[in-house]
Amino acid sequence: MNNILEKANALLSEMTLKEKIGQMTQSAGAFTADIGNSIASAPIAEQIKKGEIGSTITLGMDVHTIRNLQKIAVEESRLGIPLFFCQDVIHGYQTIFPIPLGWSCSWNPELIEKAVRVSAVEATSTGIMYAFSPMLDIARDPRWGRVSEGGGEDPYLGAQIAKAQVAGYQGKDFSEKDSMIACLKHFVGYGAAEAGRDYNTVCIDDVTLHNTYLPPFQAGIDAGVASVMPAFNIINGIPAAGNRYLLKELLRDEMGFEGITVSDYAAVDEMMSHGVAANGAEASMKAVDATLDIEMATTHFNENLEELVKSGKVDEALIDDAVRRILVYKFKLGLMDDPYKYIRPEEAEKVLFCEEHLDVSRDLGKKSIVMLKNNGVLPLKKEQKIAVIGPKGDSKDMLGTWQFSPRVKETVTLMEGLKAKGLNLTFAQGCDIHTEIENGIEEAVSAAKDADVVLLALGESKEMSGEASSRQNITVPDVQVKLAEAIKALGKPVVLVLTTGRPLLLSWFEEEMDAILNTWFLGSQAGNAIADVLVGDYNPSGKLSITFPRHTGQIPLYYNHFNTGRPYTGEDGFFSKYLDGSNDPLYPFGFGLSYSKFTCSDLVLESDTMSEEKPLSVSVTLKNEGEFAGEETVQLYIRDLAASVVRPVKELKDFQKVTLQPGESKVLHFTLPEEKLRFYNTSKNWVSEEGEFTLFVGTSSDDKDLLTASFFLKK
Ligand code: GLC
Repeated sequence: MNNILEKANALLSEMTLKEKIGQMTQSAGAFTADIGNSIASAPIAEQIKKGEIGSTITLGMDVHTIRNLQKIAVEESRLGIPLFFCQDVIHGYQTIFPIPLGWSCSWNPELIEKAVRVSAVEATSTGIMYAFSPMLDIARDPRWGRVSEGGGEDPYLGAQIAKAQVAGYQGKDFSEKDSMIACLKHFVGYGAAEAGRDYNTVCIDDVTLHNTYLPPFQAGIDAGVASVMPAFNIINGIPAAGNRYLLKELLRDEMGFEGITVSDYAAVDEMMSHGVAANGAEASMKAVDATLDIEMATTHFNENLEELVKSGKVDEALIDDAVRRILVYKFKLGLMDDPYKYIRPEEAEKVLFCEEHLDVSRDLGKKSIVMLKNNGVLPLKKEQKIAVIGPKGDSKDMLGTWQFSPRVKETVTLMEGLKAKGLNLTFAQGCDIHTEIENGIEEAVSAAKDADVVLLALGESKEMSGEASSRQNITVPDVQVKLAEAIKALGKPVVLVLTTGRPLLLSWFEEEMDAILNTWFLGSQAGNAIADVLVGDYNPSGKLSITFPRHTGQIPLYYNHFNTGRPYTGEDGFFSKYLDGSNDPLYPFGFGLSYSKFTCSDLVLESDTMSEEKPLSVSVTLKNEGEFAGEETVQLYIRDLAASVVRPVKELKDFQKVTLQPGESKVLHFTLPEEKLRFYNTSKNWVSEEGEFTLFVGTSSDDKDLLTASFFLKK
């Protein structure tokens, strides 16, 4: 590092103030989103020649454009400093994987890392070396469209996935040709937007911020992430992009982050809309003081910082610190020695969307499917006559939000996946996502009337989740319910195959369907992955990473809630309940069915007392009582019964995935160290406290699926 630091400092010493500010500016490239403010700037080639930008978003650029722009930077700017080329590689580059909310239900960090590694191999072969990913926002509100992009509601599962994704993008060493910068986003609390409305106000107390929202980011920082993107929202009343407490005192000093902070798109400009800056100069001052290193898309740094430094309002040392952090990573990636390291079109030909990558997508896809109900109608039998009905039945719209693959047309549809299984199929679309098709329902009923079983392929379009796509009514669109009712009236077995970017309200379907597969948006191999599960070639193993509510009125609803002073236990009276509905979710965190039946028994603690020196040793027996081999995810939760601040009624602290043959049993061992009992308290310390805890081990967060025991932490 010293050698790199010396090189960065040497280069820094040659730079003019204007050139330094240029490194802190990121062009929107060819991608200027319509967000109501000006992203107008000079043609990018001009900006590069003048040293006015140090990086650019690459959306809309091919590898030849990237090479040409890099050539201008290297050969035509005064110091020849190469650019970073950046893109949202969120769940795949050309080969698309399940949306992150989907793959989080695989509870398989190793496989997620493998998928992200594939994304990095594909993206870096086309000139891109900076991913605006992983998105780590804890989300408890399925009205928020970006719930699709994250890892669900739990800090521990989110932290395991964060670690895996950073390793996937960054590889073992930045000097490798297919390693790229990862960027943790959005720092922090973006998923707590009031009313689930994207970009809305966020208000989180410090203790909850640390115990719920920060753990995935801390895991990413501990994994060596190079970059962090502050969120659009406020924390303690100040927008993240200009929030010195958040970016300097918390992110850098307390959490130990030493890398690059890059604003979200136009977030520096938006400090004026937030009402904390009267003009671009004030916004720039606040952002640089907060230690924001790169302004994305807007040009307030370029327009104001030189004057602000010359007038003494901004200390040039702050500029030097920011530019040094940027240059260090340009050296670490080897760009200063080989600016064209990532320009490898001939290699791209071989790796983009290759069979091996598609196999990873199919594997992660089938392991992300969550079976929510099955009365025995699944798996399908080869001899059955199957009617596939619905707008998602033969649709290529299976990739979901935040993907820019040119290979959409090669997405495997559900019908294509089922045909590949050699099944006896009929198909009728029945309706569009939101609208009727003339005679559509009648034709669908007719197509289904001779079938032995109906697959009802319903759900959202990709536009219905993702950024700026919050929904007030998180239901299956009305026209699709109308189609479902008509099909149900036939009196045949019906399986709901649901494509969605968020939890939807499924109470009617829970009542009326014989089986429900929640398949998220599964990516390039969606149809094959779903067919693998439907015919039993893969025994579903997915577990929910986010709660499915019964009613929008329950939201936010999550498993790791506090007990309150008046917990509802069913009786009437002054307790925390509703007059007109249940407190309980429709499907809880950690829930997911299998074609097998797995049971846990014999929960044994080696001792009922633990300490810092002596972790808790736990064993439990898992048995496969079904007729299928399958994989189960055994989950371990704790509850701190009396602490200095309220603690959740359950907290996930470990899990193991186990494959068992029919009839097979296995004793699983868990070790729970003291540090997993620590929490952040009002004295701003991470502590564990002596006292009694409850241990839960089982196959979902629901009490009916858990064995319990008590233990004592001795300090
Ligand atoms: C968007 C998103 C962010 C993304 C950035 C660049 O507005 O909030 O997640 O990385 O802009 O596309």
